Amino acid sequence: MPTVEKGFWPDRSTPIREGKGLVEAMRDADNPTVSESKTVTHGPQEQAAGRRNSAASGWAHWWEVWERAAQPVSDRLVELAGVAAGHSVLDLATGLGEPAITAARRVGAHGWVIATDCAPDMLREAATRAEAAGLSNIEFREMDAETPDLQHIAFDSILCRWGFMFVPDLEGSLRRLTALLKPGGRLAAAAWGMPDEVPVIYTSASVVAKIAPLPPAPAGALHPFRLSDPDILIGAMKKAGLGDVSHEELRVAFEFASAEDYTRFRRDMTTLDAQLAEHHPPDVIEAAWQAVTEAARAYGGNEGRIRFVNTAVCFSGSR
Ligand SMILES: C[S@@+](CC[C@H](N)C(=O)[O-])C[C@H]1O[C@@H](n2cnc3c(N)ncnc32)[C@H](O)[C@@H]1O
Repeated sequence: MPTVEKGFWPDRSTPIREGKGLVEAMRDADNPTVSESKTVTHGPQEQAAGRRNSAASGWAHWWEVWERAAQPVSDRLVELAGVAAGHSVLDLATGLGEPAITAARRVGAHGWVIATDCAPDMLREAATRAEAAGLSNIEFREMDAETPDLQHIAFDSILCRWGFMFVPDLEGSLRRLTALLKPGGRLAAAAWGMPDEVPVIYTSASVVAKIAPLPPAPAGALHPFRLSDPDILIGAMKKAGLGDVSHEELRVAFEFASAEDYTRFRRDMTTLDAQLAEHHPPDVIEAAWQAVTEAARAYGGNEGRIRFVNTAVCFSGSR
């Protein structure tokens, strides 16, 4: 049975790249890690709307929608990292278990996967998914991607899907990770493209930033577009000692049954509501989300379904 092991997580701070108002509206919001330290308001309005009580349960609720879009990214990362039968694989910031579970299927009974994240509630959901999938070659560990605590293990491949943007000291983290790869071992990671190429995140973030702005983000705030400029991760990978570094774009299409569903998805999977509640009254927050729903209608297609086509960037390199 998949297990969840306890690790540690140290302090972090880092410089960021920003867009006006956008960083504030996205700062930490797409990083469920911060959900446990924030106070989330769950008044009657939220309950009536069926809101989740933690980002992890929000992720579990929306997993099918998320993964229908994101599975091709896991598939590509596993290919780029050369994952094969019998291999040892490390997944960083695995969230609800991807790309770890895709890799566990690929390595088979003679291989194994260690899936790590710094959010225990995400790991618990991930372990439940792995168990439901009948996988016994995957282990879950609470661990900060910045300070991997795995000194005595050598991996054929290291994977990270949409996690490195939340790691402050990228170069240090990558250097420590490179040392964990066997000679010839490969690392593959995904980040998001430029904000206007990622409407599934940008639509809600930009509309909320206009109607319910947040105070300027402190130095060190982390956000999903921190690695949109591919040179940032490429540079860090090269400085960390990885060779054969390359990157490529991948289209990732998210589909929602309605514009209202899109808004619920964003509210459930991020911690933005908790941040907004510290600065705005409920009616302003509700007006902002109503405006998000209206903005999402621009992406409407057949039968009211909403479709966002986004750009992910996949990076790879070898030791
Ligand atoms: C956008 S989610 C991606 C989850 C998963 N890899 C996926 O693609 O579905 C980001 C994940 O990174 C984790 N995370 C954030 N900062 C981290 C850190 N410094 N070390 C490890 N995990 C981290 C969060 O807890 C969250 O599960």
